[in-house]
Amino acid sequence: MKTTEEIIEATKGYFCYGIEKEDVQIRIEEARKMPSGSFAVDFGTGQARTAIVMAMVNPGLTVYTFDIGRSDMTNEALAERVHVRCAEQGVVNLKYYLGDAKVIVKDWDKPLHLLNIDAEGDYERTLIEVEEWYPHVVSGGTIFMQSYNLNGKYPAIKEVVDKYLDDHLGQYKFGELYHNTKVIYKL
Ligand SMILES: C[S@@+](CC[C@H](N)C(=O)[O-])C[C@H]1O[C@@H](n2cnc3c(N)ncnc32)[C@H](O)[C@@H]1O
Repeated sequence: MKTTEEIIEATKGYFCYGIEKEDVQIRIEEARKMPSGSFAVDFGTGQARTAIVMAMVNPGLTVYTFDIGRSDMTNEALAERVHVRCAEQGVVNLKYYLGDAKVIVKDWDKPLHLLNIDAEGDYERTLIEVEEWYPHVVSGGTIFMQSYNLNGKYPAIKEVVDKYLDDHLGQYKFGELYHNTKVIYKL
C-alpha cells in the first residue's frame, strides 16, 4: 500500500485548478478510515484525481464518480482518460458514469461513507446537490465540499452549506478547512 506522500506524487499530473496537496491529503486520510464494503460518491469526475486517490488508498471502498460531460473533450475521451488513469494506478474499485449528479441522485440507493462534491458553483444547483446528496451519508461518514473557500470565487457554496448545517443542527458537524476543501462530518 502506497503512503499518502507517494499517492500525492503519483497523481500530481492529474491537475485541476483549485485542488492542491492539502485538498488531496484530507481525502486520502478520510478514505483510509472507511470500513471495507463501504461506498463513496464523487462528482464531478473532472481529472478524476479526487476519485482515484480515495479508491487507491482503500480497496474495500467502492468509489462511484460521475461527470456531466465537458466542453474540452468528448464523452468517449473523458471515459478513456478515467480508464487509463485507473489502470496507471492499479485501481479496480472505481466506477465511472457519464451523467448529471442531480439526476443520478433520484435513484441512488446506497449508503455513503464518503461524499465529495466539486461540480457547480451557483446557488440553485449547489442547493440541490446539498439537499439531495447529504441525506445519503451515513452517521460517521464524511463530506468534502470543494471550493468552499476558493478565493471568494463561489460564495454560494459556503452560503448553502452554512445554512444547511444551521437548519440541521445536531446532524452534522463542521471539520477544518483544508485549502479549498471544507470537511463536514455526519453525526
Ligand atoms: C472542477 S472539476 C472536478 C475535479 C475533480 N474532482 C478532480 O479531482 O479532477 C468539476 C467537474 O464537474 C463536472 N460537473 C459539473 N456539473 C455536474 C453535474 N451536475 N453532475 C456531474 N458532473 C458535473 C464538470 O463537467 C467538471 O468536469
